[in-house]
Amino acid sequence: MSSAVLSVKNISKHFGGIKAVQDVSFDVAEGEVLGLIGPNGSGKSTLFNCVLGQYSPTNGSVEINGHDVTGLPPSKLNKEGVARTFQQLSVFPNMTVLENVILAGQEHQGTMLSRLFGPSDAGLTEAAKQMIEFFRLSHLIDELAGSLSYGQQKLLDAAMAFMGGPRLVLLDEPAGGVNLTMLGNLKEHLIAYNKTHNTTFVVIEHNMEFVMSLCTRIIVLAEGQIIAEGTPDEIRNNQQVIDAYLGG
Ligand SMILES: Nc1ncnc2c1ncn2[C@@H]1O[C@H](COP(=O)(O)OP(=O)(O)O)[C@@H](O)[C@H]1O
Ligand SMILES: [Mg+2]
Repeated sequence: MSSAVLSVKNISKHFGGIKAVQDVSFDVAEGEVLGLIGPNGSGKSTLFNCVLGQYSPTNGSVEINGHDVTGLPPSKLNKEGVARTFQQLSVFPNMTVLENVILAGQEHQGTMLSRLFGPSDAGLTEAAKQMIEFFRLSHLIDELAGSLSYGQQKLLDAAMAFMGGPRLVLLDEPAGGVNLTMLGNLKEHLIAYNKTHNTTFVVIEHNMEFVMSLCTRIIVLAEGQIIAEGTPDEIRNNQQVIDAYLGG
């Protein structure tokens, strides 16, 4: 038994002849903020999709809190306390901020039926308002999500992922396309959420300053394999990483 929240064990994922992920293993401890970096096409999103049940891995297994969850669908993983944000925004532009967050809460509860037939907010309005307040979006609560700036939508996306109190959140490029001011904002809120809830994060991110100041440990992928692992300082000074990625 490991005490890891997430254990990735010898995961490989092949698409025909493409070896997108090759024999990747790592553990993530409770409350840890782990960064996952690497060049475009190095297998980061594919690895997330294997962990999250979007893809079933060609080889290997995934454990959450010591339970084998390999290939479980995303809805089941939600019940295990796992949530994600997508590389592409997943907010509904024609719904208000509040409606988006309530809907996310319903999806985390897996209550598709109540979404269709049940009470309009399933008792989630209060929790949604608190989450919106946590991300300092209260002044926009009744605005259509599509009218928010891109950075604000990324914050909203994070607020939606945190509905339902996940133990583990996988964030795929949360900072992508976000301006400098909102970036500081986003990082501050993620760190605050991690500190107050001891939620475990795995973060894919290209913005090095963001990832190095947010994460306590970083794993570097190249061509589907782990080429380095360490603290932000160790990664910054790792010659193999500089050659494969940072130098480019
Ligand atoms: N659904 C898919 N079908 C075929 N090839 C894929 C699929 N998803 C990803 N790939 C390939 O797998 C490799 C890794 O992609 P990806 O995981 O998206 O990388 P990253 O997120 O690090 O940019 C790439 O060569 C990509 O083209
Ligand atoms: Mg990706």
